[in-house]
Amino acid sequence: METAPTKYPTAALIDGQWITSSRSFAVINPATGAEIAQVPNLGAKETLAAIDAASRALPAWSAKTAKDRAIILKRWFDLVTADTEHLAQLMTAEQGKPLTESRGEVAYGASFIEWFAEEGKRAYGRTIPTTVASRRYITIKQPIGVVAAIAPWNFPIAMITRKVAPALAAGCTIVVKPAEDTPLCALAIAKLALDAGVPPGVFNVVTTMDAPVVGKVLTDDSRVRKLTFTGSTAVGKALYRQCADTVKKLTLELGGNAPLVIFDDANLGQAVAGAMASKYRNAGQTCVCANRILVQAGIYDRFAAALVEAVAKLHVAPGTDARCTIGPLINSDAIAKVETLTADAVGKGAKVLIGGAPNPTGPLFYQPTVLGGITRDMDIVREEIFGPVAALMRFETEAEAVALANDTPFGLAAYLFSQNLSRAWRVAEKLDAGMIGVNDGIFSNEVVPFGGVKESGLGREGAAEGLEEYLETKFICLGAIDA
Ligand code: SIN
Repeated sequence: METAPTKYPTAALIDGQWITSSRSFAVINPATGAEIAQVPNLGAKETLAAIDAASRALPAWSAKTAKDRAIILKRWFDLVTADTEHLAQLMTAEQGKPLTESRGEVAYGASFIEWFAEEGKRAYGRTIPTTVASRRYITIKQPIGVVAAIAPWNFPIAMITRKVAPALAAGCTIVVKPAEDTPLCALAIAKLALDAGVPPGVFNVVTTMDAPVVGKVLTDDSRVRKLTFTGSTAVGKALYRQCADTVKKLTLELGGNAPLVIFDDANLGQAVAGAMASKYRNAGQTCVCANRILVQAGIYDRFAAALVEAVAKLHVAPGTDARCTIGPLINSDAIAKVETLTADAVGKGAKVLIGGAPNPTGPLFYQPTVLGGITRDMDIVREEIFGPVAALMRFETEAEAVALANDTPFGLAAYLFSQNLSRAWRVAEKLDAGMIGVNDGIFSNEVVPFGGVKESGLGREGAAEGLEEYLETKFICLGAIDA
């Protein structure tokens, strides 16, 4: 066992108490394969206890003024920000991403806390002109109630704060189930929330390897009024079905198959920088990563050559190495998927322009790869790669690009590169995606709405829309008003 990289608890958090268990599971450093901690493997009983705690804490938390909640959230933001370096080291230890990216993620995660601390003060209702002289119509916004959050491993802090901060700002209480690969960051930020003054029971963390068991308790319980989930489309669909019986409100941030379209009139430097940023961030393990790079025939060869030159400069290493730009993948399933998709593409005629094989640094490292000559019969065109493999597909016309880009049940992010403003606007309107990057490969931040269309999900996170997800609109009719 490596020395535990955390000064924070490795126990679960229910009702302000740190809970241990005789059943536990190991957290593994993907760069070394070493165990870095054991955390409790909780089940149905503890999940119910967490919902009980969240229900008990709800009346007092929701009764606080938005300003009082904001004061606590801002203290939480300050504590997270002040401990950036330790949190970043912890994130790299359990998730693998390069330290520079981990530091960036701590700032990204903290930004949701700061943003929603303020935005909670703007949960405005409306007055509506009346239809009857003796009545007045108003709406007020109220917290939806107890929230369940199921979080992914690829952004172990930001994907939790993007859910917890708006929930708490709105006056909700929450039970979080972090990913089994990355529970330590979740526990660290939960501890900082307690230190900031978040009362017991308002923010609970249930660590488990039995996700279906915990998920069933969270979805079956009628006291849980909202489920927010980031993860695969398959699991999202199952949770959606499970929430039907209690008619919960849902935010689902599911899989993507982002097209990144490069037109002949693109600025080559911008297109390469955008493709690099979108494709290789977090070793290709983001839902918004460019999955299919569609390149118009007139620029294809120049783009492919420039991309290969940029990829050759990436440095594969453990995330703690200062030179690292590509860390390990999260686990052996992730490596197997990348290998299978690459082999399928190559078997059907794709050309390996660079990479195309595991990297000797360790069993979970894969070489940053560019595949040329991708065609529609290849699995890589339909499946989310979630690894550092760029798949280049040639097209001739704008209409063909739009048709290819939209030829997927997913619709999370899409990107396009063109110096022609009319084309950029026209194509942005036609792409079936919740988020479009024009001449830009990374756009996520706290002030803009993040989310997808089609099978990429429901609802939005971040921005004013992200607060709305945790609020109910109540209409009040004030009758018998004397004229
Ligand atoms: C994700 O991959 O789910 C989130 C990516 C982002 O926030 O940019």
